[in-house]
Amino acid sequence: MISPKRLRMRKVLLTVITLFIVTVLSAQTNLKGKKISPDLFGVFFEDINYSADGGLYAELVQNRSFEYSPTDHAGWNPFSFWDYITPGFSYGKISVETSSPINSNNPHYIVLDVENVGHEDKYTGQSGVGLQNAGYEGMVVREGDKYNFSFFGRQLSGNPVSISASIQTPGGKILAEDTISISSQGWEKYSATFLPTESNDSARLVVIATNSGRIALDMISLFPEKTFKNRPNGLRQDIALMIADVKPKFMRFPGGCLVHGDGIGNIYRWKNTIGPVEERKEQKNLWGYHQTAGLGFYEYFLFCEDIGAKPLPVLPAAVSCQNSGGTWRIGGTGQRSLPIDEMDEYIQDVLDLIEWANGPATSKWGAIRAAAGHPEPFNLEYIGIGNEDRITPGFEERFRMIFNAVKTSHPEITVIGTVGPFHSGDDFDKGWKLADELKLQMVDEHYYCQPDWFLTNGHRYDSYKRNSTRVYLGEYASWGNKTRNAIAEAAFMTSLERNADVVSMASYAPLLAKAGFTQWKTDMIFFNNIKACATINYYVQKLFSTNQGDYYFDRVISAGTNDTTLASSCVMDSKTGDIILKMVNAGANAGIFKVNLAGFKTILHDAEKTMLEGDADAEDSLSDPLNVVPVSSSFYVNPKFEYTAPAMSLTVIRIKTKNRVN
Ligand code: AHR
Repeated sequence: MISPKRLRMRKVLLTVITLFIVTVLSAQTNLKGKKISPDLFGVFFEDINYSADGGLYAELVQNRSFEYSPTDHAGWNPFSFWDYITPGFSYGKISVETSSPINSNNPHYIVLDVENVGHEDKYTGQSGVGLQNAGYEGMVVREGDKYNFSFFGRQLSGNPVSISASIQTPGGKILAEDTISISSQGWEKYSATFLPTESNDSARLVVIATNSGRIALDMISLFPEKTFKNRPNGLRQDIALMIADVKPKFMRFPGGCLVHGDGIGNIYRWKNTIGPVEERKEQKNLWGYHQTAGLGFYEYFLFCEDIGAKPLPVLPAAVSCQNSGGTWRIGGTGQRSLPIDEMDEYIQDVLDLIEWANGPATSKWGAIRAAAGHPEPFNLEYIGIGNEDRITPGFEERFRMIFNAVKTSHPEITVIGTVGPFHSGDDFDKGWKLADELKLQMVDEHYYCQPDWFLTNGHRYDSYKRNSTRVYLGEYASWGNKTRNAIAEAAFMTSLERNADVVSMASYAPLLAKAGFTQWKTDMIFFNNIKACATINYYVQKLFSTNQGDYYFDRVISAGTNDTTLASSCVMDSKTGDIILKMVNAGANAGIFKVNLAGFKTILHDAEKTMLEGDADAEDSLSDPLNVVPVSSSFYVNPKFEYTAPAMSLTVIRIKTKNRVN
């Protein structure tokens, strides 16, 4: 919790910063700028499209804990994605068992019973009884990189059992190998480090018991040592870097529909996702696969900190997902409410999250965070409650209970409410009515529309009430990843800057998608096991986020026509002193913008121009990643000039001033 002393220090710091900004502003301009929310552009991570397991979470083994089940996905079971192998004509038995597991949250494990070890296999030279896992359609391993292999094992027979663990090519060539003896009667963690002798894009992990006996195995894991910031249990470097490069001001997680889940038994409970990975509670992912929770709340908060983004966890409003009844064809129960007599416990979970994130290491939940390796608080400021739920009496009752409890115990936290899945309609109206009544600080709007909608709705927020509930535009995208979609989004984003006194935060959705495993086809970053590819929409997000100012200036840029395909903004970044112009042309022909910088006293002539331009139907994809990418060049700026923006383009001009700070 924030102490009064820290609060006073914060206030002093804020006054100093404000004074500094006012000095910079008045030194630079006669114009009156409008303050922009400092957290305007962020990202939204949802575990959809295999974004977590098999995606951002760097674990290479699929179903490492033998917890897959037919409720995750038709046909899946605890042995899915594993093969039973008996090289050298060995024989024995394999079974999935549940008595005395490592932890009751992680009930299934494997028992290998080796009866006879045969002759050496003619390809691998191996013999014994075991299992192999090819991860998420093959593991990518690189020569020279280290891989941490680990598992939990238990000796069940009278004698110890040796296992050979190896990384192999699909043809059985051994790239790295180690032997470990399992000699403990209780569960014990065993580990080894592998250094593959060559790179392979479709490797597998092979674990073989090589002498007669009986052993239990669980949590069989292969993790690259090279993760983002080298965090253990960390994130895939390339994807994490691509997100970090956006320099998001915040990150919302872990969903989306995933959060409120398929029925109340499936709603996301953050407490199940922290602590040692072998003790976390796994569950069905409502998007049709499995969540190991290896990427859990601790990892999400840490990632936010690592990339300088404020954490924005979303917790369910104690109701399940309205769409799970069929809208997204994901089966399920639709919106159901948690029984009222379970609400006290539920509300306590919400309050405990705040203590876990912000409490001192001496508090009950702060101590759990500290034990995980983070004694300092995570400085949580925002919590989302609910995700585009139907605003039913059942929802309202529960939302009010949660909101009142948080506001009473933690007035310093901004609770973000929800106003349905569309830009208008019944839930939207009811959600806003509730927000007005409760005087919510912020609500979460969502909309996915055609590019034309974004072009013709650029004035949406101009007429919103000022000094009232602010908007977090938590999910938006135009349907597609073509240039026309990205440029329509860019046009709309200039209106978010213009209205950043109403729209405090905005995030495109969804963020990640594994090619071939998507449930939602319009996404910001596509990846496979080998690489990640930015979409044109990604570049738009990145250009806005890395060129976000803190003051907006009207009437600096005007378009030559009243065409809705031309949009622009002018902002100042008072930290650097830079003036930033954004000009968007979503039309089929070149468009002219008139720029008047005369009100800025200290601009320099040398500026940097970055342009994103492409055919309306062009797309960047994993197989063709470089169709439309931003190109930077130097640009000579006069106090007044005309700029001709090519068809389907976004231009960002960053102008240095004499007040440049760095
Ligand atoms: O972003 C994909 C889905 O769209 C989210 O899970 C949900 O909130 C919205 O309907």
